[in-house]
Amino acid sequence: MAAWWGRKKAAAAAPGEVPRAAGAVFPGRAEGRDQYHPVMVGPQTLGGAATHPDTLRAAMAVVERLEPDDYIRYLSRYYRTGLERYGSAWRYADIVTVLAACARLLRPERYLEIGVRRGRSLAVVAAACPDCALVGFDLWDKPTYAGMPNPGPEFVRAELARLGHRGPLELIKGDSRQTVPAYLEAHPEAWFDLITVDGDHSEEGAAADLRLVLPRLKLGGVVVFDDICHPAHPYLHQVWRREVASDRRFACWEYTELGYGVALAVRREV
Ligand SMILES: C[S@@+](CC[C@H](N)C(=O)[O-])C[C@H]1O[C@@H](n2cnc3c(N)ncnc32)[C@H](O)[C@@H]1O
Repeated sequence: MAAWWGRKKAAAAAPGEVPRAAGAVFPGRAEGRDQYHPVMVGPQTLGGAATHPDTLRAAMAVVERLEPDDYIRYLSRYYRTGLERYGSAWRYADIVTVLAACARLLRPERYLEIGVRRGRSLAVVAAACPDCALVGFDLWDKPTYAGMPNPGPEFVRAELARLGHRGPLELIKGDSRQTVPAYLEAHPEAWFDLITVDGDHSEEGAAADLRLVLPRLKLGGVVVFDDICHPAHPYLHQVWRREVASDRRFACWEYTELGYGVALAVRREV
């Protein structure tokens, strides 16, 4: 039997209407109208799942299938140490566990990511949802990023294929402030169930990326924003609060306890 989450397609949106993320909304209406609010998956559900040790184990299993680099090895050791020492009491989240939780619970049909690098975060969604359509944007202008390898889109393509991804994949090279608007203008029908903003880490760049993509997030869809307490980018938390958390259309969850911090928000209003 198919899993309960997201197997049914949401009803097509009327022209001008924000479409609904099938895996996040209640599909039934009484006499054509909703009784409760249609969005069924809130930030507590997703945040709770993101910090759960089962999600961490699933995320770790994906990360360990990737071509290793120093950061992947470090991360894997960090996860293993946490689980060995603190067992099922350990609560930890990062972009990888948040995306693993969102992919498992929402079953996204379309995922957009700004800031792909070597494809680690994209791989987590691809592994959980092999048919999901993926669109990734990155500068891919240098062989390294923050001292870590940034091997380019062909490497990412090969990693995702090795993990069994079989849905459409578009990897778009260049500055997101140009490539993302160009893509969205060329694809007026493109709406997303899940979006990650993890590209330009400057204050203006991160805010601009959020502003570009939020209008294309489906109702019930989730936006993920990384590094909200990264010591090298202390302003990112404020960017998140200003651009998303203070907007009543979004219901937010933040994790700042360990690591570099991560935030997510569910679009609950159009
Ligand atoms: C933190 S890394 C992304 C990590 C990835 N999301 C992960 O979790 O594995 C940030 C990436 O954003 C890219 N980037 C930085 N500025 C950008 C811009 N203006 N447009 C597009 N990509 C950019 C960098 O090349 C780098 O690969």
